[in-house]
Amino acid sequence: MRKTIIAGNWKMYKTIAEAIELANGLKRELFDLNPQLIEIVICPAFTALSEVRDVISDSNLQLGAQDVFWEDEGAFTGEVSCLMLKDIGCRFVIIGHSERRQYFAETNEVVNKKARTVLRHGLIPIVCVGETLSEREKGLTFKVLEDHIYNGLKQISKEDILRVIIAYEPVWAIGTGRTATAEQAQEAQSYIRSLLAKMYDKQTAQQVRIQYGGSVKPENISELVSQPDVDGALVGLASLNLESFVKIVKRASQVRK
Ligand code: 13P
Repeated sequence: MRKTIIAGNWKMYKTIAEAIELANGLKRELFDLNPQLIEIVICPAFTALSEVRDVISDSNLQLGAQDVFWEDEGAFTGEVSCLMLKDIGCRFVIIGHSERRQYFAETNEVVNKKARTVLRHGLIPIVCVGETLSEREKGLTFKVLEDHIYNGLKQISKEDILRVIIAYEPVWAIGTGRTATAEQAQEAQSYIRSLLAKMYDKQTAQQVRIQYGGSVKPENISELVSQPDVDGALVGLASLNLESFVKIVKRASQVRK
């Protein structure tokens, strides 16, 4: 059984005060959800990690970062390492988000280096994959997924892959209000699982959790996580609003498969 995992990617939003307020609200509204049934992760900007950690330290919410560099320390101006993220109390790290691929030229090779570093440090990478609109329209969706999965997850052991979370985020559905249909998400995510079965084996592939991301809202979460291969969601804009993220998490927790 794969435990549902809902993560909020707060992107480059929220001052420290706003982040504390949202984290406090989530802690208050979600305290009665059993962490054995659903995992809840919030990923604030680096600047708010420390304060948000303090707010959620005695709750069922877990802390994640939105990116990391692959070296442990050194002259890498502007970067943050896994050692620093562990020091601050992060357990999860988003890797290879499409916005990083698009605006910061992150390649599958970079994604792979980061994912392996995160695993070496005992943290959990949320590795993002997914096609752009033009790639989908050209019928290249599966090709792109092969490229992202085979190259992004290269040289990750069978033991480590079980700790990896994959987030299928079709780029055309991110921040556009245009959600993939539940069938489109299921089709892509079952394909991702078949790729994992080729890289590892069927039993291993069955244990890896795959989230969907892209315009997830309270209105569509239940149908999405009802799909056999959709094990949760990586939520952007709707995770910035207390009411909508609470609804998303609660609705996801009610889906029984
Ligand atoms: P939206 O939910 O705003 O579409 O963003 C999805 C996303 O990029 C999560 O990482």
